[in-house]
Amino acid sequence: MRLIWVALATLLPGLSLLAAQPSAPTAATSPYPSGEAAEKIEARVEKLLSQLTHEEKVSLLAGDGFDGMSTIAVPRLGIPKMVMADGPQGIRAHGPACSFPSGIALAATWDRQLAFRYGEALGREARARGIHIQLAPGVNIARTPLNGRNFEYYGEDPYLTGELATEYILGLQSQGVAATVKHFVGNDTEWRRMEIESIMDEQTLREIYLQPFLKTVERGGVWSVMSAYNRLNGFPSTSNDALQNGVLKKEWGFPGLVMSDWWATESVESIAKGLDLEMPMGYRVTPESVREALDHGKLTEARIDDAVRRLLRMAVSMGFLDRPQLRKDLPLDSKENDALSLDVATKSITLLKNERALLPLDGTKLKRVVVYGPNAQDTPTVGGGSGGVTPFRKVSFLEGIRRALPPKTEIFYAPMPVKEVFSLHNFLELGKPAPTLPPRITDIRKMVSINQPGFTRVTFERENDISVWWEKNFAPEDVPKGREARIVWDARIEVPASGNFELITTGHPEIRLGEKELGNPESYVMSLEQGETLPLRITASEVGRGSGRVSVTIRPVPVESTGFHPAENADVAIVCVGLSQEVEGEGFDRGFTLPVAQQQLIWKVAKANPNTIVVLSGGAAVDMRDWIGMVPSVLQTWYLGQDAGTALASILFGGANPSGHLPCTFDRTIDENPAFRHYPGNFPVGKEWPVVDYHEGIFYGYRGYDRSGFAPLFPFGHGLSYTEFEISDLKATPTAEGHSVTVAVKNTGSRDGATVVQLYAGLPAEMTPRPLRELKGFQRVTLKSGESRAVAIPLPVASLRYWHPEMGTWVNPQGPVRIDVGLSERDIRQQATLPVTGM
Ligand code: BGC
Repeated sequence: MRLIWVALATLLPGLSLLAAQPSAPTAATSPYPSGEAAEKIEARVEKLLSQLTHEEKVSLLAGDGFDGMSTIAVPRLGIPKMVMADGPQGIRAHGPACSFPSGIALAATWDRQLAFRYGEALGREARARGIHIQLAPGVNIARTPLNGRNFEYYGEDPYLTGELATEYILGLQSQGVAATVKHFVGNDTEWRRMEIESIMDEQTLREIYLQPFLKTVERGGVWSVMSAYNRLNGFPSTSNDALQNGVLKKEWGFPGLVMSDWWATESVESIAKGLDLEMPMGYRVTPESVREALDHGKLTEARIDDAVRRLLRMAVSMGFLDRPQLRKDLPLDSKENDALSLDVATKSITLLKNERALLPLDGTKLKRVVVYGPNAQDTPTVGGGSGGVTPFRKVSFLEGIRRALPPKTEIFYAPMPVKEVFSLHNFLELGKPAPTLPPRITDIRKMVSINQPGFTRVTFERENDISVWWEKNFAPEDVPKGREARIVWDARIEVPASGNFELITTGHPEIRLGEKELGNPESYVMSLEQGETLPLRITASEVGRGSGRVSVTIRPVPVESTGFHPAENADVAIVCVGLSQEVEGEGFDRGFTLPVAQQQLIWKVAKANPNTIVVLSGGAAVDMRDWIGMVPSVLQTWYLGQDAGTALASILFGGANPSGHLPCTFDRTIDENPAFRHYPGNFPVGKEWPVVDYHEGIFYGYRGYDRSGFAPLFPFGHGLSYTEFEISDLKATPTAEGHSVTVAVKNTGSRDGATVVQLYAGLPAEMTPRPLRELKGFQRVTLKSGESRAVAIPLPVASLRYWHPEMGTWVNPQGPVRIDVGLSERDIRQQATLPVTGM
């Protein structure tokens, strides 16, 4: 590491206090156009407003409860019903859709352009389904790894979160779909989220938790903000006058609308306090309650007008009154969006550890590969809750590995029945003898439904097997060309002898086994007991003809011999563990340790095979203390969306070089986490609801670790590659906004690859305690082996200011500013100090 002193006299302009407010949105950055266009929009909005009756205005203050996901239309004035959809990682509840990697995965790419393209792709998905308002992105902060919804957000750092969310919004809105940034604010855990009160000082609120919202309003031009379920500093979010009317609308100049989270509205007076739209329906805000509030002076007509004006301003500006929102030219099942989803997934996978350069594996040299763990086959694509998406197709980790390896490779997979996920026993004794009698698929009932113009023709039949040919000349059941047909087989699997079995499909039908939706895997391995009967439902769909054969068969998994211990005899063992939507999701927080069964599985496999690779799913860190030393390689895969397996395989076998970097610190133990003592909250005497005090203030995450002196297991920004990078020649040059920091980055290894150059600033001599360093800039760079490039990162003075707790305002730094440039928060390769003049 080299220390460079940069003597730039004019780098930071003096000590003057900065104005408390950031600049108002400008024409270039705001959705709200300036000049003539703005005047025209405003005039049109005013005209519409003047034509609305009082009753119509009141109806526009709440959603249309009938479907729970839209606003109310006023057809006589051409104001459409505006349809909303969850959520951040794909379109929920409008049939199958592209399932994108979660927010946390996008954050791990540290790639602004990719975030923009993600937003664009989501926008296309929305337009293909006629959606006006997407309930995304979520920008709450990973203060603790235990928050059940971390996976939807962008990690712990407000700068990284704000940058990526802004690009996502710009991309989404560029497609004519309004974004909704959520949840405003302090909704950073799910424990008792409907009633909890978050308490934090103004500095913490301003510097950390409000920052992403500010950036998405200022630079992203987001049209809608969703308020949160929790209370903040004494006020329910929907009734927080100081935040909604004060900070958001007045101080930041937000021109759009504030909607409530679902059923979160405190009372009709919330409208007076800055809420514009109660969702999903008028439960608190009804014609009667509004009348009463007006009569008692608790609400004004002017405020109602303002709320409606905001809704109309969004609608007019976005063109919702002038064109159909549904774009029939866009496919529902889009290859372009699938490719983007896979690209994000691949770039997000974060290589945490890779001893002996075990990865990448040379697939052509592997003879036998064993794959374990509950997430191998039932790979979670997303965490649980309103962000869930049903994909058209899904590639599990196991399937991705299978497809990537030559057919001659022996791949052994040990199924982990759900009951064993939590109580592992005899798991690796895979010597279950091959069953003498294979299971049977019996009692097959087939339902065929064909969409005819104006009606659907449905027929029922009994069959002997599950199979259909969808061929040009042999159409099944006379499906007329171009009509949609669906075949559903309901059957039972009967098991005469215990063993491991594989369900093999062709034609990608959807499978439901017992109560479990499996998606459309080509193969699904399961452990079944003698005498068991399992309901099976297979669904195949077809538009027109010609997609080939759909079939389902079942066969015993061949087991070489009793007592065969595959982990020992394999070239490599891949253990797919971690969290899933059942244990990490909306409405509940999660634990830090992996289920005991999963830990035992890692121990057993690692003891048996030195080439054990752990593949983790989840939205943040889990406890790795007890096994991390036993395995050479660990990959963090977040939730990768529909193409998880393809992405993983390309990383494992070197088709792609890992380039993900942690958007959140990975704690060694949960009690070292800086917020540990202030989580999840308590029940103070005299309060009827729980309280979570953000007592650690701005010293949470890496900012807290740097203060406490504990070393996290993997620091913020960490991510290994199959190649090496060098950073040199740090220079800082003045610019109109502040300065531009330049470094030379070189790929010194033998593979092409990408890394993330991270720029941190430390303000050492301040009036109040400051973190050792804070992220102020970053740039993802892709370099060929041996290639070197100068990377310039802007460092505007405005980004160095901080909130002074006593003065209650933003101030410029008071002393020299240290610049740290590196590849993680604890891998600083270059430093410089920028002296401040005018002290
Ligand atoms: C969630 C929101 C979501 C809404 C609508 C709420 O429970 O907190 O994020 O957009 O439901 O589904």
